[in-house]
Amino acid sequence: MKIFIDSADVWAIKDAYETGLIDGVTTNPTLIMKSGRHPEQVYQKLKDMGIGDISMEVVGNAEAMISEGRRLKAKFGDCATIKVPCTPDGLLACRTLSKELIRVNVTLIFSTAQAILAAKAGATYVSPFVGRLEDNSHSGVEVTRSIVDVYKRHGVHTEVLAASIRDVAKVTLAFWNGAHICTIPPTVFEKMYNHVLTDAGLKIFDEDHKTTFPTERVGGDMDALGDISYPPITGTDDGFTYTINTDDPLLDIDFGDYNEDDPRIGFIP
Ligand code: E4P
Repeated sequence: MKIFIDSADVWAIKDAYETGLIDGVTTNPTLIMKSGRHPEQVYQKLKDMGIGDISMEVVGNAEAMISEGRRLKAKFGDCATIKVPCTPDGLLACRTLSKELIRVNVTLIFSTAQAILAAKAGATYVSPFVGRLEDNSHSGVEVTRSIVDVYKRHGVHTEVLAASIRDVAKVTLAFWNGAHICTIPPTVFEKMYNHVLTDAGLKIFDEDHKTTFPTERVGGDMDALGDISYPPITGTDDGFTYTINTDDPLLDIDFGDYNEDDPRIGFIP
């Protein structure tokens, strides 16, 4: 299960890549245009970051795509994945480049039939465009599932790279339906961390941590913890509720040896 970032914005990609959770990047001519940079400047910066799988889209007829694919592979080495469209020319290029052990991502896939042809042409990845299918009242997730199913039945090694993903729910659905990879915009990746219950739960845990073990108040100095006073700790054990009054942060009371004269412990009826 791999996550790629779908962008040519090198700063946004850097932020995402530094999380350690990103396996690659996909670009396309529109994303490159929006970045305001020359394509090769983008690829070089991504390579310098250490990104090991960068989809670089080529254009033109089969001959042009093949020679540009070879040139990009020679220039950028193993991080270069050549992206070609699912057209007769694109698949001819795919076949030739794949035979030369160059990774090829066949893009603009909108049907299982196209994915079958791409696999026959030796594609490393096929990219069904989930969002654009949904924009046109087709289930992009269903097309993804169908491609995954056909590939599994026939022992095809081509990986399904769900693309054109616009929200977190589609990431989950694409993986749930067997996609090997999802390529997602940085904004969608950031949102994958979020859940309102995580925020609410963390707020409570942080407050409780500060109350019971306030290392922040002594700058993390464990020795100084003994110098600060603690509010009584209230807890429950075996059906009774108690309070512990102590300035010893490491106090460990064994209730088995409880002595009712122990001034540190009080019971709440
Ligand atoms: C990725 O390979 C595609 O180029 C990209 O996901 C397309 O996304 P869009 O439909 O949001 O433009």
